[in-house]
Amino acid sequence: MGAFGQDLPTSFDSALRLAAAILSRNSELISRGVIQAEAELLVIEAYRRSGHASLTRMELYSRLADRFPEAAGEALIIMAGARSEGKILQHITGKQVFLDHEYEVGPDVLVPRPETEAMVAHAVKILAEQFDAPRSGIEIGLGSGIISIELLSRFPSLRMISSELTEEAARRAGSNANRILGSGSRGLGRLQILRAPNALDVWGAFRSLASEGKPRAQFLVSNPPYLAPSDPIDREVLEQEPRTALFPPGTDPLHFYREIAGGLDEFLEPTGIVFLEIAPERSVEARALFARYDRDVRVYSDLNGRDRFIEVRMGFVP
Ligand SMILES: C[S@@+](CC[C@H](N)C(=O)[O-])C[C@H]1O[C@@H](n2cnc3c(N)ncnc32)[C@H](O)[C@@H]1O
Repeated sequence: MGAFGQDLPTSFDSALRLAAAILSRNSELISRGVIQAEAELLVIEAYRRSGHASLTRMELYSRLADRFPEAAGEALIIMAGARSEGKILQHITGKQVFLDHEYEVGPDVLVPRPETEAMVAHAVKILAEQFDAPRSGIEIGLGSGIISIELLSRFPSLRMISSELTEEAARRAGSNANRILGSGSRGLGRLQILRAPNALDVWGAFRSLASEGKPRAQFLVSNPPYLAPSDPIDREVLEQEPRTALFPPGTDPLHFYREIAGGLDEFLEPTGIVFLEIAPERSVEARALFARYDRDVRVYSDLNGRDRFIEVRMGFVP
């Protein structure tokens, strides 16, 4: 019996079954069909936290009959209990895989989403085609750092200048960059993190750099705060993820798109390319904001068939 009045699992098999039983107390998790996948993640994380090496899923299933350490069993009961009460999974495990790397995340940053993976994978393809070895990019709203870090990890000649509003997110992005890209001029040294002076200000931090004579960038990428209070939003997200990552300040849900559209000539090369995640509900308006400047705008949908990101080509002549 463990410290929490619950029998401790003795094997990996019983650990998986116990995690699944605890998670199943939450009917929402059952209806989303995530019990097995989340039980696996929690068992692997609980085992790692008890001082053992991290297991792959295949290793987990090859060890079903092996003994599950007591300390891991106690950690598992706490984590599965928190999850069954609705705590966001990644806030419990402290991590999320995004494309090719595992990122440390927490309540201070938006949990990386698969929709953003699709935009970044698309950006990688287009940037390789257009620039071969891209040299300079801008990101607005770094969060955990996933977008800039994935791009830097693929393009060794690339340098990114990336802005972030909150100190906590900027710190987390720096630490993810250091761990994934390495320290020094070939790693973290290629990511310059700027702090936005306030939530409304999109270009202020870049403007101070431009006045130091910095050249313009080849591309811009952003997954800015884009929700409106009337959008359908999961309660978990609304209650537990940072509001400054979800909602733009003020009453204009297109604030960031309007500001970005107006600043492109100042901060991007004339042949610049822009990748922006969007709210499906406002894809027409987002597109129109850029089309107004005679840009070539393409809209891409996510796997649910909903408009999810746009690509803007600045060099377009109508
Ligand atoms: C939707 S999250 C995206 C985070 C990350 N890029 C991702 O895709 O997971 C938006 C981020 O923009 C930051 N942010 C909000 N206002 C900002 C501003 N004016 N300038 C720069 N970043 C801002 C938020 O703190 C948050 O980290």
